[in-house]
Amino acid sequence: MRTSTQSPRPEAATQQRYAAAAKAPEAALCCPVEYNQDLLKIIPREVIEKDYGCGDPSRHLKPGEIVLDLGSGTGKICFIAAQVVGAQGRVIGVDMTDDMLEVARRHAPVVAERLGFANVEFRKGRIQDLGLDLEILDAELRKHPMAGADTFLRAQELAVDLRIKHPLVETESVDVVVSNCVLNLVEPQDKRQLFHEIFRVLRKGGRAVISDIVSDEDVPDLMQQDPALWSGCISGALREDVFLKAFEDAGFYGIRLLNRDAHPWRTVQGIEFRSVTVEAFKGKQGDCFELNQAVVYRGPFREVLDDDGHRLRRGDRVAVCDKTFQLYRKAPYAEHFEFIEPRVPLRTEDAKPYDCAHGKLRHPRETKGMEYDATTEAAKCCDGGNGGCC
Ligand SMILES: C[S@@+](CC[C@H](N)C(=O)[O-])C[C@H]1O[C@@H](n2cnc3c(N)ncnc32)[C@H](O)[C@@H]1O
Repeated sequence: MRTSTQSPRPEAATQQRYAAAAKAPEAALCCPVEYNQDLLKIIPREVIEKDYGCGDPSRHLKPGEIVLDLGSGTGKICFIAAQVVGAQGRVIGVDMTDDMLEVARRHAPVVAERLGFANVEFRKGRIQDLGLDLEILDAELRKHPMAGADTFLRAQELAVDLRIKHPLVETESVDVVVSNCVLNLVEPQDKRQLFHEIFRVLRKGGRAVISDIVSDEDVPDLMQQDPALWSGCISGALREDVFLKAFEDAGFYGIRLLNRDAHPWRTVQGIEFRSVTVEAFKGKQGDCFELNQAVVYRGPFREVLDDDGHRLRRGDRVAVCDKTFQLYRKAPYAEHFEFIEPRVPLRTEDAKPYDCAHGKLRHPRETKGMEYDATTEAAKCCDGGNGGCC
């Protein structure tokens, strides 16, 4: 049992440290990042000075998107995102520390006035439990203060109820989840749940773009128990391969490193801690139907394996189901494939279930039709129209 003389739990240490860092800037928590200077112009100085990020996920946002920023701090990424997504988009920042929320909320109207529209809001919650609105829970508990085990159990029931009736962030409501230097701060036993929560709140076709600190080796237990190293974004860092695998385990696909700093931010006992930015997509789940489509992997690798188990050899005309065909047509895959539709399209309502995980090849006759026997004149262009013709 933990006694009052022991170090605080990592989450409590984190909250204390960031409450202080919301009041006065703490240089040690800052990892230098080059943000787009044009987008910083309208952001109040206090927000910029209390920057505790390690990357810039906002670079990868598009106009009109609904964005959720996990661990939004004083709001810098939210205020940058607000400008990128524009008046048609929306930005929600979530943080668990009141002092951080206070700074962010105080500056939100200033940014809105300078922008000419208000599209940012800040909510209080823990990012590993995005269902639970801590401000509503707090208000309820003030009305019915806790005393004894019975009320503690009732409070737990209330939390379950709130997650269903008034979720902090609704299921499948967000286009992009971003985060800047926060996932590492979540305690080890909650990390799996954290990745599942990111997956839950994203709509199908949505993506996560996460900047965080990772390590090149496992962080020893003793280092993990150091609250200062924990809250300083060191001890809670996942090993870099484990970080990518966590997205895979939560059901994401097309996971890739958008950035991996060549130089470590810090090195502790020979272990390197550096910033990475990872992108991961949601949407590979669903039924497979046969519409006689095929794809050709263009290379340069001899063979690749996707997150659904499809193995594709360079140059092979591989039969895929419609779901996979449509996924490959979008980022991050599209540039790697050629797409082959059947000469005579099948009607979707006639499509049969199809398991394309076995890498079956699609014979050209299947694409063209067994009866196809056309003979044609030379085409005008055979290089896609980019220059001289044959
Ligand atoms: C390193 S700072 C990053 C702040 C901000 N993203 C930035 O770029 O400046 C970490 C922030 O995450 C918040 N935080 C840490 N763990 C959290 C958790 N489990 N749930 C919600 N917020 C958390 C802290 O309160 C703090 O504001």
